Amino acid sequence: MLDWDDPFADLKPAAQPVPPRAPDAGEALRPLPRLAAGEAPRVSPDPHGADENAHARPRLGQPAGGATGLENIERGAARIQVDDKKIINCRADLNQLVPFKYEWAWQKYLDACANHWMPQEINMSQDIALWKDPKGLTEDERTIVKRNLGFFSTADSLVANNLVLAVYRHITNPECRQYLLRQAFEEALHTHAYQYCVESLGLDEGEVFNMYRELPSVAAKAEWALPYTQSLADPHFRTGTPENDQRLLRDLIAFYVVFEGIFFYVGFTQILSMGRRNKLTGVAEQFQYIMRDESMHMNFGIDVINQIKIENPHLWTEEFKQEAIDIIRSGVKYEVQYAYDTMPRGILGLNAPMFEEYVHYIANRRCLQIGLPEQYPGATNPFPWMSEMLDLKKEKNFFETRVTEYQTGGALSWE
Ligand SMILES: [Fe+2]
Ligand SMILES: [Fe+2]
Repeated sequence: MLDWDDPFADLKPAAQPVPPRAPDAGEALRPLPRLAAGEAPRVSPDPHGADENAHARPRLGQPAGGATGLENIERGAARIQVDDKKIINCRADLNQLVPFKYEWAWQKYLDACANHWMPQEINMSQDIALWKDPKGLTEDERTIVKRNLGFFSTADSLVANNLVLAVYRHITNPECRQYLLRQAFEEALHTHAYQYCVESLGLDEGEVFNMYRELPSVAAKAEWALPYTQSLADPHFRTGTPENDQRLLRDLIAFYVVFEGIFFYVGFTQILSMGRRNKLTGVAEQFQYIMRDESMHMNFGIDVINQIKIENPHLWTEEFKQEAIDIIRSGVKYEVQYAYDTMPRGILGLNAPMFEEYVHYIANRRCLQIGLPEQYPGATNPFPWMSEMLDLKKEKNFFETRVTEYQTGGALSWE
């Protein structure tokens, strides 16, 4: 049976967290040189002149210091060892991908690249005809489609901005960053896909893209997440203290576990259930590929959270665990409200109470995945078919056709 949280779980050995190592003596964080306002950065030191940044550099034979990957190059510094690498607060050179420490991150990057797809490849002609047909869809079905496009079209931009402007610079590991770069591109693809649906169906793009400012249940989910990313996007924010490391963990839980791991699933289920009934199959197919990407994003985030916990057990206090539970429980309330707002009346065997049960079931799984107790005892999955939806190989033989085309289309011929 496919693991619907991780469709690739059966294709690879389970990721083994790397045990923490004892901190080296003298591993205390070195302060980064800061530029005064208007001061030009020094690209490289003058080898013959005074080097004012020398105090910020390691001595020859020690690993080169790094916190962003943009530090000056330290010639002759010791080569990177696996044990020098850490998910956060690493001071080893961040521009060297290898040696790998976190194989699971590299494997997710490879899996994500193997899943490449583009929105324009999906045939939307039947959707266009159905949408134009006054009797093609009920008003409730049209509402569901518009509200989900309204939520997702801006939500994926918000996720991408959180990744690029808040999370990326604080994840100090090259193989994780490699995945984050791939994820950022996928978020761009998702926003592209929603725009492509809006354009194909001839929807009012202003109405759809402004829904997160005009429709309360859509706005509420984005407003819930924003404080977590705003906290990290502060240019003066630095990890390295327990308090700030917990701020980063809060953002990761809010975005990977709740936003991508809970907030997306009512909408995914609503649209995919229409596809199962042969309605808007092009839109549903776009959502199916997006959901597969999102399940990998969420699983990557959960691996990162768990690895940070292993390397920094002092962060995972009882108080912080309760805070994480509160974050998840408050997210669940917003998602349940969204289910009732998008589905005030039941349609074709689906109704809001079923979605409430589903959100509780998902939240229980998310809690267990990051080592927290289940919060909704006895919740069951009313939509077992959703796991089948992730198994695209079974449904469409996607990999055997399009991925091959990418590989040949991207190859160079020297003849
Ligand atoms: Fe996305
Ligand atoms: Fe995502």
